[in-house]
Amino acid sequence: MSAPASGTAIRTQSPSPRKFERAIVVGASSGIGAELAKQLAAEGAHVALVGRRAPELEAVATAIRAQGGHAIVAAHDVTHYDDVPVVYERLVKEMGGLDFLAYVSGAQYNPDESVYDFAQDREMIEVNVIGAIAWTQLAAAAFEAQRGGTLVGISSIAGERGRRTMPGYTTSKAAMRTWMEALRNRVSRYGVNVVTIKPGFVDTAKTAHLTKKPMVISPARAAELSLKAAHRGGSPSVFVPGQWQLVALILRHIPSFVFRKLNL
Ligand SMILES: NC(=O)c1ccc[n+]([C@@H]2O[C@H](COP(=O)([O-])OP(=O)(O)OC[C@H]3O[C@@H](n4cnc5c(N)ncnc54)[C@H](OP(=O)(O)O)[C@@H]3O)[C@@H](O)[C@H]2O)c1
Repeated sequence: MSAPASGTAIRTQSPSPRKFERAIVVGASSGIGAELAKQLAAEGAHVALVGRRAPELEAVATAIRAQGGHAIVAAHDVTHYDDVPVVYERLVKEMGGLDFLAYVSGAQYNPDESVYDFAQDREMIEVNVIGAIAWTQLAAAAFEAQRGGTLVGISSIAGERGRRTMPGYTTSKAAMRTWMEALRNRVSRYGVNVVTIKPGFVDTAKTAHLTKKPMVISPARAAELSLKAAHRGGSPSVFVPGQWQLVALILRHIPSFVFRKLNL
């Protein structure tokens, strides 16, 4: 891991609330990631937008620039793991350093219960877990070296239990939560703020097919609550919105022999 580009101040984290200056959002072309990028830019951060769909990324960047913000774009598929260090280094160099990285990219399939689809399950693990590991460990190493930085990872309430209706997705989100916990335990001692976000239902393309979305919030609200947790510091792991914490508590305590009978 290289140090930030020359001329970039290496600082320890300032006391809360943190101000983010140079941010990468992986998965910024739509939904929660696009809103997070816009809100970071509105706060004054220089933002790098990553995702596969270049036109959508450009549209987000254009919206940011129209508000007077700074945005650069990198079209990138997170499953092209060998490209990750190259894209990461280029963006850090272009921005002159990094103090915030959010991994928001996610794939989700909800197959019919009669379907066992290895390709879909593999994609969810590759995007939601291995891509996250590839991107966040680069930032974790850099933040450890510079003794500061904020790392955000998006898990989900869905990661609380293995569900028969979405086995691949729930597995991937549980793995993401555990990965972020491990990073937190590894680098928070060096002043790195490691933030796990566990949303409930958010009104994006991922949930467009659902008819019932209890306690649904907008992607802008999900981004706002995520950013609030990141600003607070202290390496929090939070449900978004907070009411899902009670749901998670109940879910975790349902015995397996009962849980398997539920339509979850
Ligand atoms: N919506 C919800 O109710 C909800 C609830 C809990 C958690 N989440 C999580 O929140 C995150 C954002 O989802 P969203 O709801 O905002 O949906 P979304 O609008 O579909 O956003 C998904 C993002 O992931 C990116 N992505 C997917 N595959 C990728 C790949 N191979 N390489 C690079 N980027 C990739 C997409 O960019 P490209 O297509 O341009 O590559 C897009 O920017 C996901 O991790 C999701 O699991 C969502």
